Amino acid sequence: MTNKLVLITGGAGFIGSHTADLLKEKGYRVRIMDNLARQVHGGKWPRYVQEKGFELQRGDVTKKKDWEEALQGVSYVFHLAAYQDQRPDFGEFFRVNTVGTALLYETAVAEKIKLKRVVLASSQFAYGDGAYRCKHQKEVFYPELRSEADLKKKRFDITCPHGGVAHFASFREDQQLTPINSYGLSKESLERLGMRLGKTYGVPTVALRYSIVQGARQSPRNLYSGALRIFTLQALRNEPITVYEDGNQLRDFVNVKDVAQANLLALTKKDSVFGIFNVGGGKGYCVSDFAQIVKNITGSSSRIVIGGYRRTDSRHAVSDIGKMKRLGWIPSATPEDSVREYVAWLRNEVAYRSLFLR
Ligand SMILES: NC(=O)c1ccc[n+]([C@@H]2O[C@H](COP(=O)([O-])OP(=O)(O)OC[C@H]3O[C@@H](n4cnc5c(N)ncnc54)[C@H](O)[C@@H]3O)[C@@H](O)[C@H]2O)c1
Repeated sequence: MTNKLVLITGGAGFIGSHTADLLKEKGYRVRIMDNLARQVHGGKWPRYVQEKGFELQRGDVTKKKDWEEALQGVSYVFHLAAYQDQRPDFGEFFRVNTVGTALLYETAVAEKIKLKRVVLASSQFAYGDGAYRCKHQKEVFYPELRSEADLKKKRFDITCPHGGVAHFASFREDQQLTPINSYGLSKESLERLGMRLGKTYGVPTVALRYSIVQGARQSPRNLYSGALRIFTLQALRNEPITVYEDGNQLRDFVNVKDVAQANLLALTKKDSVFGIFNVGGGKGYCVSDFAQIVKNITGSSSRIVIGGYRRTDSRHAVSDIGKMKRLGWIPSATPEDSVREYVAWLRNEVAYRSLFLR
């Protein structure tokens, strides 16, 4: 019998738990290693991974002995555990995301564990502000982080080096990476490390750069979980929905069930090995339009208020998903579907009611 034991690090989380459900449905056995991070789970296994026949190991990807236990008998790994926050503890991103990944390969090599596939969770944040075009030059250019002075003056759009209009180009896997925060940098180094060690030691590795993933089970405790969480909580409390900059910044959104399908393809397709793929929604939405979607679906009386900024936000972030589609992936859910799923789930979670019931 083939060994179909899959380890999912961070499997108690949002993407990991949906991936675990899909793998179970496809006949895989699932082991989850998760440290039940306080800012995501408050130290407890969430209900949705319990009593499903998953092996649950409380463990930490920064500890080699936890990897040694987790990797025993495993053929496939989804490495999804990550530190994702907005705090300026720069070292923590590398300690968890990059060193944690190195320990995966270090343990597999030391213990002579023959892994058939490792799928690494990377992020659209690896692109930073990405590439722009202008009429003055043929080649794209990669802008520097916008200055505080420009943002204060509400000059949000990126201009070309000649002072003219610059046009954002959707992120492509083969472009230069110019991450603008420690999280993005840690994901870039995680990818490079995984690909290098994977090729050297014969560990077939794939990296997926997820865009903004949405749907049920995204912990509202998780400060990193972004616009959907913030807009939804504001809308359910009928407080103003606060949109940064001028609201015209573009983002692409992908549903977590579509992401689980992309994960499965990365695990099973031969053509994916040593590939890097964008996994996104394929279409850019203005953030203010997205706020309106949340307002409509929640039936909120909130006003949408535009203003403020965060220094390390990208102006636009939209991924080209052609490469993943050529692997056979077809995302099917819309952002409206994802918002509906998230809001319905949140309303049913007794533990989170105090966040929006007044
Ligand atoms: N959700 C998104 O929009 C998005 C976008 C891009 C990339 N990603 C990446 O996808 C992966 C999964 O993200 P998610 O949205 O499911 O996040 P999540 O926070 O819901 O899940 C992450 C899980 O990792 C666990 N974890 C954290 N630190 C750990 C450690 N040191 N050891 C073991 N477990 C640890 C947490 O307890 C949590 O269960 C992450 O690598 C993230 O960077 C997510």
